[in-house]
Amino acid sequence: MCGIIAYAGTKGAKDMLIDGLEALEYRGYDSSGFYIAKEGSVKSVGRVANLREKAVKAKQGSTGIAHTRWATHGVPSEVNAHPHMGSQKRAYVVHNGIVENYQELKEGLKKSGVIFKSETDTEVIPQLIESYIEKGFDFHQAFLKTLGDIRGTYGLAVMDAFDNEKIYVARMGSPLIIGIADHGRFVASDNSPLARHAHSVVYLNDGDVAIITGNEHEIFSQKGERVLRGEEKMSADVARAEKGEYKHFMEKEIMEGARVVENAIRGRIEIDDGTVKLGGLESVADRLREIDRIIIVGCGTAYYAGLVGEYIIEEYAGVSVEVEIASEFRYRKPVLTPRTALLAVSQSGETADTLEAIREAKRKGILTLGIVNVVGSSIARETDAGIYNHAGPEIGVASTKAFISQVTVLALFAVFLGRQRSMSLVTGRRIGQELMLLPQKIESILSKRDELKKIALAYKDVRDMLVIGRKYNMPIAYEGALKVKEVSYIHAEGYGAGEMKHGPLAMIDEHFPTVAIAPKDSVYEKNISNIQEIRARKGKIFTIATEGDSVIGEVSNDVFYIPHTIEALTPILSVVPLQLFAYYIADAKGLDVDKPKNLAKSVTVE
Ligand code: M6R
Repeated sequence: MCGIIAYAGTKGAKDMLIDGLEALEYRGYDSSGFYIAKEGSVKSVGRVANLREKAVKAKQGSTGIAHTRWATHGVPSEVNAHPHMGSQKRAYVVHNGIVENYQELKEGLKKSGVIFKSETDTEVIPQLIESYIEKGFDFHQAFLKTLGDIRGTYGLAVMDAFDNEKIYVARMGSPLIIGIADHGRFVASDNSPLARHAHSVVYLNDGDVAIITGNEHEIFSQKGERVLRGEEKMSADVARAEKGEYKHFMEKEIMEGARVVENAIRGRIEIDDGTVKLGGLESVADRLREIDRIIIVGCGTAYYAGLVGEYIIEEYAGVSVEVEIASEFRYRKPVLTPRTALLAVSQSGETADTLEAIREAKRKGILTLGIVNVVGSSIARETDAGIYNHAGPEIGVASTKAFISQVTVLALFAVFLGRQRSMSLVTGRRIGQELMLLPQKIESILSKRDELKKIALAYKDVRDMLVIGRKYNMPIAYEGALKVKEVSYIHAEGYGAGEMKHGPLAMIDEHFPTVAIAPKDSVYEKNISNIQEIRARKGKIFTIATEGDSVIGEVSNDVFYIPHTIEALTPILSVVPLQLFAYYIADAKGLDVDKPKNLAKSVTVE
C-alpha cells in the first residue's frame, strides 16, 4: 500500500511525478504529495486529481519524489501526507511501509528537542537524518545511519534540499524498481508508472540502497559495498490500463473474463497428450513428482481461488492440499516435510503477508511456487518457480479478472500434477477441452448482463445478505460475498450451504435475502434442500443455476442461468454473475467502485 515515485531527468518532473502517482493510485488514495528540488512541496488530501489541481501553478523542475498514501499511522490529512521533512527542512522523505519502532525513536528525538508535526511513523526518518547531519555526518552517511536505526518495512525515496540532483533510495520489505528511460531515471513501487517511459528496469532487493540521478544509478548494500543488479528489458505485459468505453475499471475487468481465460491457457494445453505445458515449472518438474502435499497461501480473493484449487488438485491430481490465509501461516508452526510444497497465489505479487509466508517456507527449506499476475513482482522473483497469469493489469481494487485467471491456472496446475501421477489421458483431454470452451461460455454470461443489472437493483437497498454454495462453489460464495461487501458496503456473508442450519438460518426473514449458487452438479439436490429451508423462513432467494434447469425457478425469487461445464470448472462461470451483481449494486448506489473506502489494491503492509 502507498505508492512512491521519484524522477530525475530532462522532462518536467512535476508531470512525471503526478502522472506516475495516477498510475500508482490504486495502491492508496487517502492523500498525495510531491517535493521537487528548488521548487518545494505540494500536498493534498484525497485523490491525485486534487494534487494535480492544487499544483497547477507549481514549476516543473527536474528532480523530485512523490507519494500516494494509504493511511496506517494517522488520519488522512495534509499534515500526515508525504513527503515528510525534518524540522530543518533539509531531508524530504516518501515512504511505503511501516517503521515499527517509531514510538521509541520519536521519544528519543523529542527528548533532544525535535518537534514532530505529523502523527505518522514516517516522520522519524527525516528527523533522524537531520539529527545525524547535526552530529557531523554528511547526508549519505546520515541516511545509512538512519536505516540502521529503523525497524520494519520500507521502500524509501529521499532528497536533500541542498542537493538538486540526487535521490537516495532504500528497500526493505516494500518493492522498489529503478526505471531507465531515454530522458532520465525513475524509482517506483511497481512498474505501472514506468510503462510509458522506461525501456529497462532494475529490481532492487531487500537491503539495497541506491543513489539515482538522471544519468546513472549506483546500488550499495547498507554497509556501503557496491552491489550489481542487472538491467531487465521492460516487460511488454506492462501496458498502462485505460478504462476505454467503460465507466469503471471493475466493469471493464469483468468484461475481460473470456480473454483472461484465453490468455491463461494460450499455448499451455496439449490436447492430444491430455496434458499441459507450464514452462515456468519445468525447472522443478522432477521435484514436483515427489511432492505429496501442497499448502496454498493467499489473501482475500487469492485465498478463495486457492480454496477452489484445493478441490481441483485433490480430485484430479490426488495430492493432499491445505489452503491457508497467508497472514496466519507464518505465525503457526506448520508441519512441513521435504515432500511439501508451498504455492502462493497473488495478483500483485507484492502482498506482504503472502511474501512473508514464502520467506518462512524458504527458511524451512521447502519448494516454493507462485501463481502471480504481475511480471517481475517480488513473489514472482522470490519463489523457486511459478506460473504467470498473463491477465494484464488489474486496476479496480476489487479483484475480478485475476480470480478467474487464478482458478484457470490452478486447473492447469492440477492437470500438470495429475498427469505426472495417475490421471488418465481421457480425463486430461476432457479438462483441456472444457477449459478451451470457457471463453465462449463466459461471453454468453456477459452478454446477458442487463438481466443481472435488473436483479441487482432489486437487492441494492438491503442491509445484509448471505451468499451460499457447496463444494466447488463454497469458495465462490465467500468470494461473491467479499465482492458485495467490498464495493457496495452491504454486509454480505459467504457460507457453505450445508452450514446454514448450524447457525446462520436464525437470521433469515423476509428482509434478509440469500444468493444461492446451485449449478447442476453433484451437490445440486442438497442445495435445493437448503434453498427450501430458507424459503420456509420467508427468505428471498436469488439463485445462480445451470441453463436448462426447469426446477430452480420454482424455488427462487430470481434466477440467473449460466452454461454447463464440468463441475470442477463451474466456479469460473458462477463467479462472473456475482462479480456483475456486486458491481451493479455499487454503481446504482453511486459509490466509487474502483476505489472503495479504506482499501488499497496492493497490500504491502502486514
Ligand atoms: O495481490 P493479491 O492477489 O496478493 O491481493 C490479495 C488481496 O489483497 C486481494 O485479493 C483483495 O482481497 C481484493 N481487494 C479482493 O477483491
